[in-house]
Amino acid sequence: MQIIKGKNYEDISQKAAQFILKRIHENNRLTLGLATGGTPRRTYEYLIKDYENNHTSYQTVSSFNLDEYIGLAPSDPNSYHYYMYKQLFSKIDIPKDQIFLPNGLATDLANECLSYERKIKEYGGIDLQLLGIGENGHIGFNEPGTPFNQRTHVVSLTESTIEANARFFDSIDEVPRKAITVGIATILKSKEILLLVTGKSKQAALKRLIESNEVSEDFPASALRKHENVTIIADEEALSKLE
Ligand code: F6R
Repeated sequence: MQIIKGKNYEDISQKAAQFILKRIHENNRLTLGLATGGTPRRTYEYLIKDYENNHTSYQTVSSFNLDEYIGLAPSDPNSYHYYMYKQLFSKIDIPKDQIFLPNGLATDLANECLSYERKIKEYGGIDLQLLGIGENGHIGFNEPGTPFNQRTHVVSLTESTIEANARFFDSIDEVPRKAITVGIATILKSKEILLLVTGKSKQAALKRLIESNEVSEDFPASALRKHENVTIIADEEALSKLE
């Protein structure tokens, strides 16, 4: 795992955007894997800034998001569809038919998971997967205990993730209890992985990921040790508990 140190959130966001843009310039048919949550917001703002100033085109780029809540329509401001269009897609020139997120309203969820996997394959797999990390080490919505060999599947969110995500909702009761997520096996199939980590709340997870040798389903992010092309961009605060 390669580690790139940034000063603060602003700095890691700028570095992450530069990293992604470099890959787009190297391969304009890039298939991106994208994440939501607080961490990548500023990175997306930098991508938009670049689009406005340098006109990097996304016409031939495709993108697959990691996850979506079950039961939320794309028009729901808390859905990940809504987040992605608001934070990024509506502000760059990526064609709508090259944007994919799991459908949280699918009536046949098992089939939705299978067809999402098929779609990723059809696009030649993910070239660059952007990830955040949960305080409990989750990646995507793969909570501790998720088998590493799972592909896209339905998950029940843990209490700690529900609590962490409640900040985006009016009340904790509104946080959906289930989601569709790409699996750890899907994430590990990506050709390259970029993990972004910021702030105090992620110190323990980052320390465990970098300093221990464990590869254990109790700590989902440890699966990343099995991948040979992972870059972590983390800020000083997140890294400050490392030996
Ligand atoms: C988001 C996702 C999650 C987040 C993680 C960190 O699509 O899959 O794994 O990356 O929960 O969230 P933030 O960035 O809000 O701390």
